[in-house]
Amino acid sequence: MTPNVAPAPNGIAFLPEYKNWKAISSTERFDNQTLRQILGNDVAVKAIAENHINPWPDGTVFAKVAWLEQADEKGRVRAGAFFQVEFMIRDSKKYAETLGWGWARWRGADLKPYGKDSNFSSECTGCHELLANANYVFTMPI
Ligand code: HEC
Repeated sequence: MTPNVAPAPNGIAFLPEYKNWKAISSTERFDNQTLRQILGNDVAVKAIAENHINPWPDGTVFAKVAWLEQADEKGRVRAGAFFQVEFMIRDSKKYAETLGWGWARWRGADLKPYGKDSNFSSECTGCHELLANANYVFTMPI
């Protein structure tokens, strides 16, 4: 537990254990200069191994971590300051109203919960619903 990190406005608690999860993919966005890594918990990793990823089983959790990019004097880009971490938590019944996933994001070194109220997740679903035929998950594990 991390008692000093406030829950997201929809009640989802911070999951500090994401740091021990396995990397599934990493991406880079040039428009806002962030480096990101997608991590999956044990349920996600097992689902990938068994090719049960559409739909993903209940209990699957993804974390997407973003760092600000920082270029060194030779122009090599590496991860700089922590920017944010966000989660997708699969529970087809509990989160039926938000595409079967619970959504949460914490931003900045002080891990401030993102969103004014629980409606913030409509921002997440508004983009992720494009991936209806992949159970709303962008990342294709290799
Ligand atoms: C503007 C579109 C957009 C919005 C809004 C958005 N996402 Fe995503 N999300 C993406 C894309 C694209 C990816 C794929 C990875 C990448 O390119 O960084 C992704 C990936 C993820 C992943 C990793 C699993 C996957 O689907 O690949 C998580 C977790 C995630 N997003 C959570 C959230 C949460 C929580 C919110 C709302 C607070 C949110 N996203 C809002 C576009 C969006």
